[in-house]
Amino acid sequence: ARPVTLATLRGKHRRGEPITMVTAYDYSSAVHVDVAGIDLILVGDSAAMVAHGHDNTLPISLDLMLEHCRAVVRGAPRPLIVGDLPFGSYESSPAQAVESAVRLAKEGGVDVVKMEGGTPSRVSAAKAIVEAGIAVMGHVGLTPQAISALGGFRAQGKTVDSALKVVEAAIALQDAGCFAVVLECVPAPVAAAATTALQIPTIGIGAGPLCSGQVLVYHDLLGMFQSPAHSKVTPKFCKQFGNVGAVISKALTEYREEVEARSFPDAIYTPYKMSSSDADAFA
Ligand code: KIV
Ligand code: NA
Repeated sequence: ARPVTLATLRGKHRRGEPITMVTAYDYSSAVHVDVAGIDLILVGDSAAMVAHGHDNTLPISLDLMLEHCRAVVRGAPRPLIVGDLPFGSYESSPAQAVESAVRLAKEGGVDVVKMEGGTPSRVSAAKAIVEAGIAVMGHVGLTPQAISALGGFRAQGKTVDSALKVVEAAIALQDAGCFAVVLECVPAPVAAAATTALQIPTIGIGAGPLCSGQVLVYHDLLGMFQSPAHSKVTPKFCKQFGNVGAVISKALTEYREEVEARSFPDAIYTPYKMSSSDADAFA
């Protein structure tokens, strides 16, 4: 088993210690998240947007999610790894949900799965996955896979009626056996009410400070998309903890300029000498 387990998270929650989660989609991002000491890695279907350039999360397939999961698992031996069930892989029936969750666990190598929504049919699906032996993280509030029905990426739970729906959905997911619930883009008092009402941890994104933990998208928090050439916008709830996009652009531009000026590679980066045998060719 990995160093971070459900028991680790329960302990943190019991002691009132914040739980940390970040997305990762490939080997190198997973290595960085692991080294930073983050508790949970979410192999999010946000990969559709930040890794594949789509405008929303709908297009990514289960097979492609599995590929991302395998790469992340290879890069991050320490954190608990959450695989996101992509759009179209779990809505039809609890049996379809179990089948897809089993593939994420068995072929993708993830420890637990996450699924969006808290309607009765989603709650039944969550329950079926837990009964199959795979732990489930719920996700309510803004559920990006429902962008068509929601009419866009917009905050949820702003009225008392819809706030109640968010909290009730979170409770229903807890009762179905979920070990935690993501609260996305809801007013802080709604997230606080859900966190108080639940025995399991809440993980907030755009949901204010009163959650049991926080999650952000890797590319957003690193400031990956900030050069004017990029169309991807960082959501307004996301603090950019780095300027990685600017660092990457500067390095790539300097590389191009040095090659064009023939100043790279100079003698330092021209290590191979002629010799009488090929035996030391890679020395
Ligand atoms: O896919 C994702 O990145 C997510 C987080 C925003 C919670 O679901
Ligand atoms: Na997601």
